[in-house]
Order: sequence, then structure tokens, then C-alpha cells
Amino acid sequence: MAGKTTSRFVCQSCGDAFLRWEGQCRSCGGWNSLVETVVRDRPGVARARAGRGALGPGPAPVALADISESDVPRLRTGFGELDRVLGGGLVPGSIVLVGGEPGIGKSTLLLQVAAGVARPVLYATGEESAAQVRLRAGRLDLLQGPPGRAVEVLAEHDVGRILEVALQMRPAVVIIDSIQTATVEELDGAAGSVGQVRESTVRLMDFAKGEGIAVVLVGHVTKDGSIAGPKTLEHLVDAVIAVEGERYATLRLVRAAKNRFGSTEEVGVFEMAAIGLVEVTDPARAFLAEHAEPAPGSVVAPTLEGSRPLLVEVQALVAPAGYGTPARKASGLDPNRLGLLVAVLGRRAGIALGAHDVYANLAGGLAVGEPGLDLPVALALASSLRDRPIYPDTVVIGEVGLLGELRPVTGLERRLREAARLGFCAAIVPRSGRTTAMPAIEGLRIHEVATLREAVEVALTMRPDHRDDALSAMLG
Ligand code: TYD
Ligand code: MG
Repeated sequence: MAGKTTSRFVCQSCGDAFLRWEGQCRSCGGWNSLVETVVRDRPGVARARAGRGALGPGPAPVALADISESDVPRLRTGFGELDRVLGGGLVPGSIVLVGGEPGIGKSTLLLQVAAGVARPVLYATGEESAAQVRLRAGRLDLLQGPPGRAVEVLAEHDVGRILEVALQMRPAVVIIDSIQTATVEELDGAAGSVGQVRESTVRLMDFAKGEGIAVVLVGHVTKDGSIAGPKTLEHLVDAVIAVEGERYATLRLVRAAKNRFGSTEEVGVFEMAAIGLVEVTDPARAFLAEHAEPAPGSVVAPTLEGSRPLLVEVQALVAPAGYGTPARKASGLDPNRLGLLVAVLGRRAGIALGAHDVYANLAGGLAVGEPGLDLPVALALASSLRDRPIYPDTVVIGEVGLLGELRPVTGLERRLREAARLGFCAAIVPRSGRTTAMPAIEGLRIHEVATLREAVEVALTMRPDHRDDALSAMLG
């Protein structure tokens, strides 16, 4: 095969190259570190020195002060939510990786983006046939009208041929669905192998930068959350956009795990509907489960995702454990943090959970990493153990320290204003160490507490009717 003469197996730890694949690198002894790589006849520095102009024409250096300040042009994707996450839209000449679990909606999203860009788009798919793409486009109602003409579908996995077509067509955006099915001819490895994925990405990146055309790659994510194949992929691309959510729930979160052209703080919220993904432009309430009755173990937390406050419901269940080690299960939350909160609750707040199974999750399939969820989780556990609901129109936020002390969170006022806007009327928050008082927020009664123990007492004694009496009796 032609590939044999042009590829080498290069150790990712020490850089040594071999002709054949082996499980262990003979130079450094590293296991499974050899990756098939294309050997390039690279015009090196030596040739450039020799003045042969091997590098061809390229950009000349420009003094910092002389770089024009005109903004990077952006291609709108047709989804305001996605544009915001990208930092204003797709940047021509950039390469973006869209990652997510199989079935989460990546192909759906990108077909809708292809239609929404309002410029010619090449949609190359190695996963589905053109007929299957047409079927999906029909469901998304994209066959009629301008998108039916502007989006060209190419059922192809060979990167060389995709790029040939792209060079002829000169679209504004090339979409590759997915990078795990893309292959280059020179390598023998199967599609999806580290070597194939990386070499394909490198070529698509060269194409993007060279031609000023935006390239979007779809990447499947493995169970442990990393983009399948090499981590290096994430370093190569300009932006990594993660599509998250529970496959059988309808909400989808789009967030930038890396972004050279914008913040990584923003999230976009979508809903999977019968006509594809629909933007949720006011998602503040989207992640709240609806109950008729206040339920023990449920606490609403005003989280902050980038510039956007999102109210999420923490749900906890505490049940006497059988034999063996009690279970500690978290979904959408950091399980280590849950273990720590169980310990702090026991030692510092009189909520003993040592002999109980503990389950905690976020409603709506959301995953939130912020430390401000500590206090809501702790209070949900306490509420479940005591089997007493927390007054339902209350929001709770705060970080818990190992001594049971509470620490303030960023953007507290913004979070609380959003809670008040949505009709919440009470909040339990860490007492601020500042000398300036907490600003008053109309319609919201703010309880500032210093310790976890105090928070538990306030939360479990608040009642709709005689809240004030209970509080003053307790605090007074
Ligand atoms: P898909 O985009 O194929 O996922 P991925 O490319 O990430 O693997 O999405 C598949 C799921 O989306 C599938 O379970 C069906 C659902 N879906 C809808 O609910 N509505 C729609 O309009 C479409 C096209 C898909
Ligand atoms: Mg797909």
C-alpha cells in the first residue's frame, strides 16, 4: 500500500519514530504511545535560509500598532444562542469542534446551522447517506426555500476529496460530520484512530486558515467526557463547543469549552422539538421542575452561567442504608463535593447522614460546576433527612467551607434580581464580609446567614404564614 512509505509511528511521549506499530515505545518505554503520522517533506528553515523561497508568498510581519483594529468579521449561524457562545458567530478561517454524546443532536444542530448561515455551505457527512440527510432536512423543514439550494451535501469521508470539492465550490462554511469518520489516504489506520483523526484535523485546519473558510467538525464524546480520540484535537482547533443534556430530556446546553475568539463563560440553551432544535431565549425558569406541592429535598439555586442567571432545582433523597458502604450518588453535580458536604453537615450542622444512602441531582439534565451549589445541595439533603420541605418560593446560594462557614458567590445581586423577576420571594445567602449592606431587592426577603448550621435552621423553620415569627423567635 502507498501508505506504508509515507507514514511513521511516532511516540507521543518522546517523539521517536518507528516503521511499525508496537505496544511499547522502544526508546522511552511508554505504553500505547505510538500514533501513525504522515511524513511530510517539509520545507525547513535551512531551505528558507538558502533563499530558495521554498515557503512561497505569505504574510509579512506587521508592527503591533499598525494592525488594523477592524473587528473580526463573523458569520451568523441563524441561532442567537449559538452565536453568543461562539463570541458573535463563526469566524471565517477558523476551525471549530462541536462535541457531544451520540444522539444528543449535533447533526441536527449543524444541519440547522448550515441552513441558517444564509451563504453556501458544504455539509460533508461520513456518517449518513445523502438520502438520510435529506430525510432529516425534510423533518426540519429545510428543503423548500433558500437553504434547499444553498446547502450542498457530500456523503464522503476522504478528506482529500472533501477538500477538492470545497476548493471548487468555495462555500462560506464546511461542516464535517464527523471527524471520527474522516480519513486521509496516506494512513492505513482505521477511521477514528488517533492518527487518522489528527491528520484529518490538521489538513482541514490548513485548509481553513489558507482559504479563509470556516470549518466545523463534529466530534463524538466518550463516556468519560473527553472528545473521542486524541486530546490533541482540542489543542488544534480554535474553539470547542460542547452540546450537553440528557438524551431523553429535551433541554440542550451549548457551551464553549475553549474559544480563541470569545469567552468560555457563555451558555446557549436549546430545546429538542419535533422540528429540530429551538432556542430557549429566556431559559431562567427552564431548569425548574414543576411540582404542585412543596417537596422535601428540593431547593432552587440561582446559578450564574457566564452573564446569564439560570435557576436550577437541586433534588436530594436521603434513605437509610442497608448493609455495606452507604451510597453517595450525584448527577449533574460533583460527586466528591457531595461526599464533602455530607461530612460537613454531619460534623458542623447536626445533620448525620453516615448511615444513609444519599442521592443528589439537578433537574433538567443540567451539569453545573460552580461552588455556589454547595449550600443548595446541603439544604436539600437536610430537608430530605428531616422530611420537611423548604418554603418553595425560596432560592439558596453559597459555597460551604470545611468548618461549616459560608462563603459569598460572585454576581449575587444579578442572581437575586433574576430570582425576584421570576416571582421568588425569599433568599438564603451567605452573610457578606463587606461593610456595605446587601442592596435591597424589591419583593425578595434576603436572609443572610454565616454558617451552615444557621442556614439549616433558617431553611427548615421558614413557613409561608408565620415565617417571620419563626425566624424572629429563632434568631432573637
Ligand atoms: P442527531 O442530531 O442525529 O444526534 P448526533 O448527531 O449528536 O448523534 O440527533 C438525534 C436525536 O434527535 C434523535 O434521538 C431524534 C432527535 N430529533 C428530534 O427530536 N427532532 C428532530 O427534528 C430531529 C431531526 C431529531
Ligand atoms: Mg450525527
